[in-house]
Amino acid sequence: MNVLLIGSGGREHAMAWKIAQSSLLDELYVAPGNPGTVRHGRNVDLDLNDQKALRTFLKEKKIRIVVVGPEGPLVDGLHDRIADDPLLKGEVTVIGPRAKGAQLEGSKDFAKDFMFRHNIPTAAYRSFGKGELKQAIDHLGQMQAPYVIKADGLANGKGVVITSDIKEATRTLKEMLEGGRFGSAGERVVLEQFLKGVELSAFLITDGVSFKMLPAAKDYKRIGAGDTGPNTGGMGAVSPVYYADKDFMQKVHDRVAAPTIRGLQKDGIPYSGFLFMGLMNVNNEPYVIEYNVRLGDPETQAILPRLRSDLLDLFEGISSGTLSERHVDVDDRTAVTVVLANQGYPGKFETGHPIIGIDLVTNAYVFQSGTAMQGDRLVTNGGRVLSVTAFGKDIEQAILAAHRSASPIEYEGKYLRVDIGLDAVKKPAVRATPQSIK
Ligand code: AMP
Ligand code: GLY
Repeated sequence: MNVLLIGSGGREHAMAWKIAQSSLLDELYVAPGNPGTVRHGRNVDLDLNDQKALRTFLKEKKIRIVVVGPEGPLVDGLHDRIADDPLLKGEVTVIGPRAKGAQLEGSKDFAKDFMFRHNIPTAAYRSFGKGELKQAIDHLGQMQAPYVIKADGLANGKGVVITSDIKEATRTLKEMLEGGRFGSAGERVVLEQFLKGVELSAFLITDGVSFKMLPAAKDYKRIGAGDTGPNTGGMGAVSPVYYADKDFMQKVHDRVAAPTIRGLQKDGIPYSGFLFMGLMNVNNEPYVIEYNVRLGDPETQAILPRLRSDLLDLFEGISSGTLSERHVDVDDRTAVTVVLANQGYPGKFETGHPIIGIDLVTNAYVFQSGTAMQGDRLVTNGGRVLSVTAFGKDIEQAILAAHRSASPIEYEGKYLRVDIGLDAVKKPAVRATPQSIK
């Protein structure tokens, strides 16, 4: 079977690595891919908005499965354009929903409305459009701090403002609804109740009728050790999550995953691919903070190495509507993923510095994201440069292995969080000396 994977991050490198292990695979193409994905398939330049070029590529290369890594192309209707192209005769399965289903991520208002209609636990909310600034400010007055203000549309993960300062909250509402902050994504805002708890990322794969849970992960979003400083795309991940035990995950299955898939069916929204449930564990009860219609980055780099099952076999299950007959087998060990970032990220940073030492890494997986080839040299080319995933029989062993494995990789500006996973370590001695594991 020939497969086209869309994307260029660490998530897609991990997906390419996993797909390439399948005995069902003939050729893997990655558009555009990165220097890491070249090891597992062929990187191709493909303008996804050029329907003719896309169609020709899919036909010439006899692609049967298109896997979409990021949400953007899904929200923009890539699935619809492939599925509805009469010249492709429905021969290509897209892993990732149509534009309608992608609204679960593309519009917070849509997602909240969906959750309330289907009794899926989430924070109480109200949404306000352009011209409703006064009503929004009035509503703010009835809320309790901290205030959670979200731009409705896609804003590269930056569209959420949480503040206890009512003046800042009011200013934020004005900027979004009238000042063009976040562009069209902010023309509608969602004001929601603040949930106090611990966050985790839960995942499922579905053919729209049945679904299988995948391993859950915890993402470390802030740039600084001890969860300090600005938000990033994610500085590391661990899987499994110590505060998501079997009972909690059963609640996630019964109260979130199952009603979501049933809700999509009831609403007549076909859905194929992954669903990422961003959850808050509030006193052991799961609440949905957000849906994403894709896998997470860097969560994927922690969960796919734990997946023993053949990923392409699961995709084939989606293609033939027989996912219920497939099996998801998960490695019991703990995976820790440490992101090697670039000094200055998530603000300004330099690029073009040579990266050395990847070949010296043993007992770990290295997934590339912000890298490029300059002649035959691998150089830095983004804020998050690489990620390193290692296994351990427990969290301590996995943390040690990840840091030991990351240490030979060198480049100017290398920055990493030394505390990924340490919150899960019960032993105070290890907790107190994060530097010792560098
Ligand atoms: P989102 O883009 O919806 O994932 O939100 C970004 C971050 O804001 C989340 O990862 C949470 O840390 C936080 N957040 C979002 N909604 C809430 C909420 N209702 N209560 C508390 N924290 C929230
Ligand atoms: N790591 C969070 C995300 O992928 O959205």
